[in-house]
Amino acid sequence: MRILCLNGPNLNRLGKREKEAYGTFTLAELESELMQFAEQQNFELACRQSNHEGELIDWLHEAGDDKLDGIVLNAGAYTHTSIAIRDAIAAINVPVIEVHISNVYNREEFRHHSYMAPVAAGQITGFGKDVYKLALHALLMRNQRG
Ligand code: DQA
Repeated sequence: MRILCLNGPNLNRLGKREKEAYGTFTLAELESELMQFAEQQNFELACRQSNHEGELIDWLHEAGDDKLDGIVLNAGAYTHTSIAIRDAIAAINVPVIEVHISNVYNREEFRHHSYMAPVAAGQITGFGKDVYKLALHALLMRNQRG
């Protein structure tokens, strides 16, 4: 089982940015926790982050070509703006779980709409950094069901 965890714009600033919304953990801490979880659960995990829409799209295509088993995607603000990332998800045959650290539905109105949601396998929002592990669990369970 091979999974990609993809973080979008500004998520490299975790631990420094809007701590009341996103907590105090850094991206490096989050990724190392997820890598440890992957080792325990015996699956392959790669973690990537980019502030650039095109780079995220290239990585989604690559994941499709490599026939990965799943993607955990926090597209950051691109969630609410990017038809191009939505189309990239639709263009690959890999289940994508959309995650958000904060609960986007109790924040500003512009965060309530997701271009990703209709093409994602599911969405997990509002449980802090646990959303990533919850999404990995969902992909593991989905894989076990076959
Ligand atoms: C976010 C929520 C988005 O609205 C925001 O633009 C982010 C982070 C989250 O993880 O809660 O950058 O995706």
